[in-house]
Amino acid sequence: MQQKREQWGSRWGFILAAMGSAVGLGNIWRFSYAMGEGGGSAFLIIYLVSVLVIGFPVMLIEFSIGRRTQTDAVDAFKKLAPKSGWLVAGGLGVLAAFLILSFYGVIGGWSLRYMFEYMTGGITGDPQDFFVGFISDPASPVFWQFVFMALTVGIVFLGVQKGIELSSKVMMPVLSILLIGLAAYSLTLGGAEEAFAFMFQPDWDAFTDPSVYISAMGQAFFTLSLGMGAMLTYASYLDPEERLTSSAAIIIVLDTLFALVSGLVIFPALFAFGLDPSEGAGLVFMVLPNIFEALGGIGTLAGVVFFVLLSMAALSSAISLLEVAVAYFMRRLNASRKAMTLVVGLVIFLLGVPSSLSQGAMDITILGDSFLDFMDAFTGNLVLPLGGLIMVLFVGWTWTKKEILDHGDVADQSWGPLYVLTAKFVAPVAILLVLIIGMINW
Ligand code: PFF
Repeated sequence: MQQKREQWGSRWGFILAAMGSAVGLGNIWRFSYAMGEGGGSAFLIIYLVSVLVIGFPVMLIEFSIGRRTQTDAVDAFKKLAPKSGWLVAGGLGVLAAFLILSFYGVIGGWSLRYMFEYMTGGITGDPQDFFVGFISDPASPVFWQFVFMALTVGIVFLGVQKGIELSSKVMMPVLSILLIGLAAYSLTLGGAEEAFAFMFQPDWDAFTDPSVYISAMGQAFFTLSLGMGAMLTYASYLDPEERLTSSAAIIIVLDTLFALVSGLVIFPALFAFGLDPSEGAGLVFMVLPNIFEALGGIGTLAGVVFFVLLSMAALSSAISLLEVAVAYFMRRLNASRKAMTLVVGLVIFLLGVPSSLSQGAMDITILGDSFLDFMDAFTGNLVLPLGGLIMVLFVGWTWTKKEILDHGDVADQSWGPLYVLTAKFVAPVAILLVLIIGMINW
């Protein structure tokens, strides 16, 4: 028997859940290290252009497909284009959900461990030694990854309204307040001027580095949860009458603000203590604790706030990753949400163990990168843009102009024709160009 499909309780429930998906480790952990490595402002400018020219249309396209078909990422393409190859976009999405959540759960676990440490008095000894000691331990990070995945599974298990929507309604406002408070505090530490220069003063040399383009575009996809059907799946729980453009605009603006304000938390503190922004993936875990330690008692409190923030942001995104796969398997196997959540959650946890072990416990590398770093770059910079490319090509070239306008809710907008043009030409060409540049420079 077919169960009745779930729906959001309200439009704001949807917006907060989608925002929860977008705002995550990508805005804080990934954004800060990618920007640090990408020369600061050059990365920021290319990232902002990508968000506008590629992110907005791709999000609207995912929303249109989801709301129109009211089904999961794979079935959506089957319904719209039966017996065609387009469903590869949905399949790629489900695969990406497994791959991304596998390493995302590892970092989420690190964040929980740090949250726990600061709640119980802060970390002891040299922060770098502590971090390296922790992540190279075979058992402890896997334990915390398990805890993080258990929380993720717990929320998705409860369903769209009682799990995802309710948790997002609680977490997103808390998250916003914590972030703004931390930024205000960080700006008083004395590194504000240098941070502003680093973030906003263009360094023209970095524009000539091709790797900055791929990492900035990859970041735009990753941070907006695009290219793998997460936004498509969330929009499939919308009432077919619900409007889309304003929701997409709100989510994009808030996600971008979140990344910028996170930058204002991290970089001023970093420069105030003369630390290096190009530390790489360990940036928030190795560098920030130095700052918390130097600040004494208030630093421990700042540490608690920061890692509560990071953990909640990670959790509200992880649930959307899990939901993509759970929604697919529930329909495909005609199984219950509860059973599928447990099974898929467990498989993804196991898939994440090599990522966790690759941080020092074992030597697991691919193309010279640790397994975790490889998964991060491979999915973000390649799989998501590729998934996004297929989706824009699908909508841009198999839907009529009227369908593109109607299903995106842009028929009565003055910028409707521009949207069609972007869906047909600008976004695909831009994604393709950056992908090619990225491949050449891999
Ligand atoms: N947008 C999330 C972040 O910025 O951390 C990551 C993410 C979630 C990517 C969901 C893709 C996705 F489907």
